[in-house]
Amino acid sequence: RKGRTPEEVVRRYLQKVRNPPEEDCTICMEALAGPSGYKGPGVGGISRAESVGRLSQCGHQYHLQCLVAMYNNGNKDGSLQCPTCKTIYGVKTGNQPPGKMEYHVIPHSLPGHPDCKTIRIIYNIPPGIQGPEHSNPGKPFTARGFPRHCYLPDSEKGRLVLKLLLVAWDRRLIFSVGTSSTTGETDTVIWNEVHHKTEFGSNLTGHGYPDSGHLDNVLEELRAQGIAEEDCLRD
Ligand code: APR
Ligand code: ZN
Repeated sequence: RKGRTPEEVVRRYLQKVRNPPEEDCTICMEALAGPSGYKGPGVGGISRAESVGRLSQCGHQYHLQCLVAMYNNGNKDGSLQCPTCKTIYGVKTGNQPPGKMEYHVIPHSLPGHPDCKTIRIIYNIPPGIQGPEHSNPGKPFTARGFPRHCYLPDSEKGRLVLKLLLVAWDRRLIFSVGTSSTTGETDTVIWNEVHHKTEFGSNLTGHGYPDSGHLDNVLEELRAQGIAEEDCLRD
């Protein structure tokens, strides 16, 4: 996506709105018919006449200037997510630091999945220095509890989840850098919005088996990140 300005990226996902509705832009809370309430830098040159856009798939409308400001606040990967309904335009990526994802099948069954073996995923991320895509560029981040071991049933659905997790890993969406809600530590590697089961034979933490809804929950969480089976066929 190099060479595309933030405004060009945002415009790709927008349709023109000639007569803005009498509603507020939910990004800046100002009337769509009036100017954007965004006062920050980096969005100059957008004229009043073309100041409102409608996102092409979901139809939600915003000041163009507000969408550009929102895009600039993110990791500028060429994708945009509707702040109202979370529809993703383009391919969403995250800010997971460099590391390794490995997996293999182990010949044991998970509680609740007596008829199949188990996939063990091993994530390893070393500590490092935050990049421009993180909240404190140049500052070190810690990485606790690695390697982190996670488990999936080696069933058809479990293997689908694994396949989608591999896509999520490539898109840097499995982990993020921030504040751990468990330990309160700041500037550390944390799970992103896709739940993993880190306990094998028990469920002392709530992140173990049995949990009959787990695979469907993960598929839903992956979908919210823009990763679904249909999309992967096109990759
Ligand atoms: N296993 C799996 N997921 C967990 C765990 C765990 N032990 N603890 C928390 N989560 C989930 C939470 O439910 C939340 O959705 O991760 C998400 C982010 O929680 P944080 O506490 O911010 O994440 P993090 O600090 O990365 O994880 C805490 O998880 O795998 C372990 O070793 C890790 O002890 C650490 C714990
Ligand atoms: Zn606005």
